[in-house]
Amino acid sequence: MHRLFQFRKLGWALLLSLFLSILCVSLFIGSPAKAQKTLKIATEPAFPPFEFQGSNGELVGFDIDLLKEIGKAAGFQVQFQSMQFDGIIPALQAKTVDAAVSGITITAERQQAVDFSRPYFKAGLAIAVKSDNQDITSLESLQNKRVAVQIGTTGALEAKKIPGAKIRTFDNAPLSLQELLNGNVDAVINDAPVTLYAIKENNLKGLKVTSQLLTEEYYGIPTAKGSPNLDDINRGLTAILNNGTYEQIYRKWFNAQPPQLPEST
Ligand code: ARG
Repeated sequence: MHRLFQFRKLGWALLLSLFLSILCVSLFIGSPAKAQKTLKIATEPAFPPFEFQGSNGELVGFDIDLLKEIGKAAGFQVQFQSMQFDGIIPALQAKTVDAAVSGITITAERQQAVDFSRPYFKAGLAIAVKSDNQDITSLESLQNKRVAVQIGTTGALEAKKIPGAKIRTFDNAPLSLQELLNGNVDAVINDAPVTLYAIKENNLKGLKVTSQLLTEEYYGIPTAKGSPNLDDINRGLTAILNNGTYEQIYRKWFNAQPPQLPEST
């Protein structure tokens, strides 16, 4: 009887310690992660394959994947906010958003207004024309021609250099390409990867890109000047450049090996 009682006690003690250890383990596993901050990210979402509406209306693209992965690596959540391209820098300055991703070229002029992350993509401007066009081959050959561009872009700035050109500005790049397809302008100046993607993926039959790129440009992620978020963004970007995640995203959207990027422009 006495022994039996002791056994029972032991049984209870074992059961209790089992219960306590399960409790400890589950508390540990289930402990809510440190609350992450959420960064509001501005984008102009008609710039495939960098940012555009997917089939369910959701935001997709290279830039979108990039920012999500940067956030994962650096420990912040992202919340995208769509706006006009020429509203992005003012929104950063007014601090209504924390950062932006929108195929935004790092330029000296913009660096006066905002801070940029390290470069994350190598791009450049290209001239698009109708496939049968033979005489437009360079910026010089665009003199006195009708040229379509997206408002507020480096393409719009480049077009301003052309003597006598009649420049038509559009809210987004696809609208400017449509205008060329319709025969209402002679050329479009736009970021080469976007124009090439549109011709290939959206089947813009009858358009081509002239062989020479007009510029070499690098995209960066801008924040307000002095923003404490820039360090996090750069840390996350560097991490995914080094751990293969960047390459994975690049391959997904461009089906190619990413080119070498400089650490700064
Ligand atoms: N890279 C060009 C620029 O920075 C064009 C960017 C346009 N981006 C967009 N999402 N529409 O001016």
